[in-house]
Amino acid sequence: MLENVVSVWEGWSCPVPLITGMVIMRPIRHDLMLTIASVVAMAGLMGLLFDSFLQAQEYPADITRGKGVYERHCQACHGVAGWGDGPDAQALKVPPANFHRFLSFLKSDEELLRTIEHGVVFSPMHAWRGQLTDGEMQDVVAYIRLLSQQGR
Ligand code: HEC
Repeated sequence: MLENVVSVWEGWSCPVPLITGMVIMRPIRHDLMLTIASVVAMAGLMGLLFDSFLQAQEYPADITRGKGVYERHCQACHGVAGWGDGPDAQALKVPPANFHRFLSFLKSDEELLRTIEHGVVFSPMHAWRGQLTDGEMQDVVAYIRLLSQQGR
């Protein structure tokens, strides 16, 4: 008799709170997941935005070398301060990139590096692979980053 009561009790007691719990928890869990997802997404976005800053600051010494490379090879088109207004710029059909543009600023170091390495098709910006070493290209990106953060 007692066994029967216990077994009935056990049979009922388990699923009822479980189901009630699931029903109550479901919207909370959904909200929690959304919050976690948005926090993760925000962190990712912030990371993307500040990634370039951090990387540029990690190797301050190489910026000096990057400046040398820039003055020798890039300044004539991109201008002393990177506004795309170098002396050779007027003669070009496609204007040199202005590194202060938001569009340029938002690009990752890797993207800029790829452009320098391979050039831009149908534009005076040719590939520098072969003329510059990997290190020189990385240094010049760091220098471009520095320029793009400076005002006129
Ligand atoms: C003959 C002129 C010229 C020279 C020299 C030159 N560039 Fe360019 N560069 C350009 C032009 C033009 C563009 C824009 C191409 C386009 O947008 O279609 C450009 C684009 C770029 C971009 C892409 C920017 C962006 O926002 O996507 C980078 C980075 C760049 N140049 C770096 C360099 C570096 C570094 C050097 C020197 C090693 C250099 N350039 C030398 C003409 C030049």
